[in-house]
Amino acid sequence: MSDRSQSRAAGYEAAPNIALVKYWGMRDAQLVLPNNSSLSMTVGGLRTRTWVRFDRGLGADRLWLNDRLAGDGPLQSATEFLDVVREEAGLREFAEVRSSNNFPIASGLASSASGFAALAGAASRAAGLDLTPRGLSRLARRGSGSASRSIFGGFVEWQAGHRSDGEDCYARPLFPPDHWPELRDLVTIIADAPEKSVRSARAMQDTVRTSPAYAERLRSVPGRLAALRRALRTRNPDQFLELLIQECDDFRRVCETTVPSLDYLTPASRAVLAAVLELNRQAGRPVAGYTHDAGAHVHVFTFAPEVRRVQARLRAVPGVESVRVLSPGPAAHPLPGTGA
Ligand code: DP6
Repeated sequence: MSDRSQSRAAGYEAAPNIALVKYWGMRDAQLVLPNNSSLSMTVGGLRTRTWVRFDRGLGADRLWLNDRLAGDGPLQSATEFLDVVREEAGLREFAEVRSSNNFPIASGLASSASGFAALAGAASRAAGLDLTPRGLSRLARRGSGSASRSIFGGFVEWQAGHRSDGEDCYARPLFPPDHWPELRDLVTIIADAPEKSVRSARAMQDTVRTSPAYAERLRSVPGRLAALRRALRTRNPDQFLELLIQECDDFRRVCETTVPSLDYLTPASRAVLAAVLELNRQAGRPVAGYTHDAGAHVHVFTFAPEVRRVQARLRAVPGVESVRVLSPGPAAHPLPGTGA
């Protein structure tokens, strides 16, 4: 192992999260300060592991994703983020970053959230910054807004804050992973889902500028977020599922009314949404609820006794590749060793 003054390394693990109330639109794109608070569930069973080594001997940052050297886009995002860490730590060394997911990056399963949460943890530790979870959430936010929430496990709220320096803009845990033991997230993978070509951070600012529905969304989100927080706290399934669908439909409305229109769904994704509504209509009560982020895959929430029925219905939708049953997941945490 090399001398600590020559090379310092650390590893961190983080899970993706699915937004139940979405972050979409920023008041400050440089500092990644959102227009509204958001609420998510950290997803168990999926994870990113990242190792960072700052090394005097390097002439540039290097990024390995799942054992392959990354292309210019991801490398540039990582370097911009590492610059923030270097600045905070008073460090000049370039870094070698090795990151791997136990799920396909191109699957659109929120790899930027777990990716930047793990990178924030590994890079800050390797740089000798001893951050609290709140400080880590603030730092991860600079890489990808949604990553601020992946620092914590279970159900998480990212508060938008008011300050222009972003000091009051971080996520905090609301309820632990075992808060609602029957709750399940049926991650419905759509075959041939197109790869996300534009980062959400850019797409959402097009919505802010052009969607006539955006102002109304901003007015309605705080009330919906409070109602969802209450439905979670009281473990009220009907309210939870109804609010989840309402929020997702509202998010989709502002995307579709953006100029040019943002359409993340495929016909198979839309068939999944329709199947959930049909299930609920047939049952005469909410059995399942759907949500999706800026991608074609759909997260269908339901409860343990209904999982088999809902899963069978989703699998029967043409164009659905697989349905993975997941539960709330753990907080991000350091990995032992140096990754050498
Ligand atoms: C629709 O903060 O993940 O998932 O890293 O640029 O892709 P990029 O942005 P990110 O955007 C999240 C948008 C969302 C909603 C959410 O997660 O709250």
